[in-house]
Amino acid sequence: MRLKSNAVITGVGGFVPDNILNNSDLEKLVDTNSDWIVSRTGIKERRILNDPSLATSDMAVAAVKNLLDTTGVTAAEIDCLIIATSTPDHLLLSTASIVCDKLGLSNAWATDVNAACSGFLYAYTLGASLVESNRYKKVVVVGADQNSAIINYKDRNTCILFGDGAGAVLLEPTTEDIGLIDSVFKTDGHGREYLLVPGGGSKIPATVDSVTANQHYIRQEGRVVFKAAIKGMTETCTEVLKRNNMTIDDVSWLIPHQANYRIIHAVGENLGLPEERVKVNIERYGNTTAATIPLCLWDFKDDFKHNDNVIFTAFGAGFSWGATLLKWGTLRTV
Ligand code: ACO
Repeated sequence: MRLKSNAVITGVGGFVPDNILNNSDLEKLVDTNSDWIVSRTGIKERRILNDPSLATSDMAVAAVKNLLDTTGVTAAEIDCLIIATSTPDHLLLSTASIVCDKLGLSNAWATDVNAACSGFLYAYTLGASLVESNRYKKVVVVGADQNSAIINYKDRNTCILFGDGAGAVLLEPTTEDIGLIDSVFKTDGHGREYLLVPGGGSKIPATVDSVTANQHYIRQEGRVVFKAAIKGMTETCTEVLKRNNMTIDDVSWLIPHQANYRIIHAVGENLGLPEERVKVNIERYGNTTAATIPLCLWDFKDDFKHNDNVIFTAFGAGFSWGATLLKWGTLRTV
């Protein structure tokens, strides 16, 4: 009989491209201005992968490499790699397969998860379940997106929001009472009309017409998504706390998906969490879709202490959303 373990994060890695697209650069591309962008979204700049020979897998490779370097774990020790992305290198074949090959993860099986901005949240819980089952000892979960590949830089409704990046965590078993506690996830496909890339899939295959009509770019009804995001993240955070007999006072840190500072602020306020316990780096990276939460972990990992209760929460296309409650552990060092 296999006894269950807890699954704890023992390493965090990240990567953002060097190239910066700031608000003044965007003023030259569309009818916008920096003050509007900062006051309506909190974003000052984003990173863009501007080398045409590189793609999402290359950012994921860099993030996992950083993870392995900082934990001292070797590529051959990894049992499984899950990559959350909605900008895969190719439509057919997982980006995770490419990353396995590029990094020599010779003993790992690998797959992608597509849940847009909730992708990392879902993939993290899936990866943790594999570890909890005691079948896998070292699972790497990545959130990686090259949003610049699906952005129309003539559409001011979307081009100001998104950036590129990748973050990765290592999950390992522990008998200690730490790690993932619980997740509340929701999916409502009625939301698909408000946020999607319409073309390039099986419904509207890529053709000259689909490309001419810009159907390979992100389309979003911002206001609808904005309201649904605040409601969805607030409700799932509240639910995950309630069903674990905890209150917001028990939570040390909220790590929200970074889509808009006003969304983050409203969720924190609805939950009654002081601003200093809500992690924010949107001003530097914009919305990196599945990468926002692991990039926050990468940026702020030194703030988290063993036994801190942490909530991850996200909302994205689908609609898909949720909240995950966990107890932080101790990261490996080399
Ligand atoms: N620059 C200047 N003005 C602009 C811009 C811009 N870039 N974009 C819109 N405006 C104008 C609009 O035309 C409008 O003008 P009007 O009043 O004359 O009609 C005005 O600003 C207000 O527009 P709104 O759309 O109401 O602006 P809002 O405050 O809602 O902000 C935004 C827009 C930033 C897109 C916001 O709605 C938002 O953040 N939505 C949610 C994004 C999100 O969470 N996405 C989910 C994750 S993404 C994923 O899963 C891939």
